[in-house]
Amino acid sequence: MKDVRIAMVGFGTIGRGFAGVLLEKRAFLARRHGLRLKVVAIAEYDGSVIDERGIDLNRVLKAPLDHCRGWSELRSQDVLRSVGADIALELTPGNIKTGEPGLSHILSALDAGMHVVTSNKSPLAVAYQRIMRRAALRGREVRFEATVGGAIPLINLYQKTLQINEIRNIYGILNGTTNFILSKMEEESVDFSIALREAQELGYAETDCSYDVDGIDTAVKVVILSNAIMGRNVSLRDVNVTGIREINSETIELAKKHGSAIRLVGDVGRLEVSPRLIPMQHPLNIAGALNAVMLETDVAGSITITGAGAGPRETASSILSDVIDLSVGSL
Ligand code: HSE
Repeated sequence: MKDVRIAMVGFGTIGRGFAGVLLEKRAFLARRHGLRLKVVAIAEYDGSVIDERGIDLNRVLKAPLDHCRGWSELRSQDVLRSVGADIALELTPGNIKTGEPGLSHILSALDAGMHVVTSNKSPLAVAYQRIMRRAALRGREVRFEATVGGAIPLINLYQKTLQINEIRNIYGILNGTTNFILSKMEEESVDFSIALREAQELGYAETDCSYDVDGIDTAVKVVILSNAIMGRNVSLRDVNVTGIREINSETIELAKKHGSAIRLVGDVGRLEVSPRLIPMQHPLNIAGALNAVMLETDVAGSITITGAGAGPRETASSILSDVIDLSVGSL
């Protein structure tokens, strides 16, 4: 059995979702992969829990973190410097202008000799090349499947299966919250604000939901896909962004009359995010918090992949996939 020590930074919706799925899959991970994943630290903005023998995840999921055994006011940066884990999970919400605090967490974890798995889009959108250069310098890896498309294996699909292909374009529905809102408005004629509140309650929306509604979250994912899959070096400034605030029930009804739905589409090739008319039978016409992405390739042709684009459990599937991959292949 291989012991893998994990330090988690961020224990909100995504962190707790990951801990729950890890508990559920513990026996499977041991049986199938010979892995014992031990969470030795959980850092939050106001302190952390550390237990070198492995934190009791059942307990931390039941009680507030600062009520748990091993709690101290030790800050995330100090935790990363001192804890000596194999893999750091960076699961905090990010500031899209600075990439912080996630960017500093990722760089510190690499400097401390850890591999990094993250669901945090902002650091990658702000400093993709810087992060990858630091990882190369330290001989560590940064994995980020969970940053784009929730549960959908997009980055890994490209890196492991489509690697000989030239990717000519990638476009699709990259934000679960706006897709949830637009399809609710279309199918159930509910108000924008009610649909948004429901998406927030289900854990789909960003901490600042204007990131979703104004297309910024989709733009961030366009930047990540552009840099990671299409080999460019672009940032958020390069993306032309229009969100869904102007879409109302009249616009949706009008689209319906013309046999189409309105969906927020991210176009990686054109570096554009905008609401588009999607014909009813088109593969991108999906409902709920699903994402759907089309990849145009030179050898494999066109590939469409659809799945849960948001949600704590679904995102945990991608995080855990990266963790397993690193644990089996790189440790
Ligand atoms: N707020 C994001 C979404 C979460 O709705 O898609 C997943 O990136």
